[in-house]
Amino acid sequence: MHRRHLPAAALAASVVLFCGVLSLSLRAGELVVQPSPGSAAPAMQAVGAFTGPGSCAAAACHGAVRPVAGSRILQTEYTTWIAQDRHVRAFEVLSNPVSVRMAKILGVGRADTAPKCLVCHSLDVPGGRQAHTFANEGVSCEACHGPASGWLGPHTTRGWTHAQSVALGMYDTKDIVKRTERCLTCHLGTAEKSVDHEMIAAGHPDLVFDLEAFSAAMPRHWRENTDQDPFRSVRAFSLGQLVHVRSSLDRLAVRVKGPVWPEYAELDCFACHHSLTRADDSWRQAQGYTGRRPGNPPLNLSRWATARHVLAAFDEPGAAELDGVMTKLALEASRLRTDADQVVAIAAQARTMIDRGIARALSAPADAALARRLLRAVAGAAEEIAPRGERAAEQTAMAMESLYAAWARGGGGESAATKAAFNELFQQFENPSSYDPRRFVAQVRKIESSLP
Ligand code: HEC
Ligand code: HEC
Ligand code: HEC
Ligand code: HEC
Repeated sequence: MHRRHLPAAALAASVVLFCGVLSLSLRAGELVVQPSPGSAAPAMQAVGAFTGPGSCAAAACHGAVRPVAGSRILQTEYTTWIAQDRHVRAFEVLSNPVSVRMAKILGVGRADTAPKCLVCHSLDVPGGRQAHTFANEGVSCEACHGPASGWLGPHTTRGWTHAQSVALGMYDTKDIVKRTERCLTCHLGTAEKSVDHEMIAAGHPDLVFDLEAFSAAMPRHWRENTDQDPFRSVRAFSLGQLVHVRSSLDRLAVRVKGPVWPEYAELDCFACHHSLTRADDSWRQAQGYTGRRPGNPPLNLSRWATARHVLAAFDEPGAAELDGVMTKLALEASRLRTDADQVVAIAAQARTMIDRGIARALSAPADAALARRLLRAVAGAAEEIAPRGERAAEQTAMAMESLYAAWARGGGGESAATKAAFNELFQQFENPSSYDPRRFVAQVRKIESSLP
């Protein structure tokens, strides 16, 4: 992922415990946690309590320095997370100068104790559900994998299955739809936790996401098995795109009924935040303001811009039909006096149609042809996507890069020229207020013509 650069952090793993046989002897909410000294399968497990990342850190568990030969699991997950993953720093950033200022502007007290921030910047443990006391170490294992008290002991025993762990409280991150939804709880927001324009104006970065681009940047601590199936990531990409639009419709439906509407974070940021030019040079005026009153900021449809072409690959008529619904949605949402019920109804209609696309994407084969078709389709739509604004262009760039990577890995071949062309494309997003759709389209064409 080009958007931002990951700092090469090198933190020391400090906690070493025995593998999976922690003695949990405290009360976790209503649930009694039975001590299980030395036993791999406790007589009774508490389900739904959090044990903290230290429980996974031992060298023989997930804290190995090198992937363990012959093991299905890398066993280096903790090492990767603590040394390279930005999630480990999520709590620390709440004490940096930007967070301190943000908290002051918002009047929420200290950021590192404010629930408004902790819900996304740490392992958010509901009251009383800590199996034992542990320090806040940012977005740790259980933030994604679910509370471990139920499966921590038994999950290392021979013959134990993933399904058994899931039944005992593990979150099913293997299911790509569920996985994406989990990421989006923080990277898009939900009814309970959100980054709105008030927070953005106070200093929070805008939330942008793409499952494949962000998984690659995380960095992944799991095997992708691309040797067996190089196009597995294409299915993940497609599902990630569709789930992202679906969740963004849910967020819109919540916000349009909320206390603040228009909620500016649902609108195209650079409809307001662009730099002004001479009238002769204005691409906005040249393009016109179809479907809205000139000067009204449009709904941010960046997630739909690329997902539309993904949907079309599985369901062409469905995508065309959904275009109509999304146009209606954009029109209704950008009225100064919006009919909230109407917006919610249209969003629900769109949601059902995306559900169908997700079902199809789940059962369709992912192969070289699909990767190439999607890459061509997304790149080919640059003219149509570009006027939708900087965020739509950025989604397109991330999508193209993920598809190119999958296709190259699957035998399409890599080219230095393509890589250089992608670098130039991502530079266009470094100064978003001066985004120009004409430059964006030209660069996408350059990438297309450089493809091996
Ligand atoms: C809905 C979830 C959510 C909430 C609530 C939230 N954040 Fe964030 N925050 C994120 C995500 C996700 C990122 C990373 C964004 C990215 O890089 O794409 C982030 C990034 C940041 C960054 C930039 C970090 C860096 O490394 O530069 C700061 C600072 C920050 N948040 C502070 C806060 C503060 C302070 C609050 C509370 C007032 C808060 N956040 C609430 C999800 C959230
Ligand atoms: C930001 C979310 C996130 C965090 C934090 C996280 N993981 Fe993961 N993890 C994933 C995803 C996504 C996968 C891939 C899907 C899968 O295999 O479950 C994965 C896969 C794994 C796997 C491989 C499972 C398998 O059957 O192949 C292990 C083991 C694992 N994680 C352990 C950990 C440990 C230990 C930590 C903490 C040190 C951790 N994870 C932190 C998201 C996360
Ligand atoms: C519990 C909330 C939460 C969940 C769940 C979550 N993240 Fe994050 N993520 C964050 C926060 C907060 C940050 C910002 C951390 C920082 O900047 O220090 C972040 C940062 C990142 C970054 C670094 C972004 C950058 O600008 O470099 C990537 C990549 C990322 N997350 C990917 C994922 C993926 C993929 C998933 C799902 C498998 C996921 N995250 C799930 C909260 C979350
Ligand atoms: C309807 C117009 C509108 C939209 C849409 C909008 N903003 Fe704003 N934004 C404003 C206004 C007005 C302010 C307050 C400016 C001031 O106080 O001087 C502001 C303030 C800000 C600030 C702080 C100003 C600064 O100079 O640091 C940031 C950052 C920001 N917005 C980012 C965004 C992002 C990102 C989006 C999209 C997710 C967005 N805005 C969408 C109108 C808008």
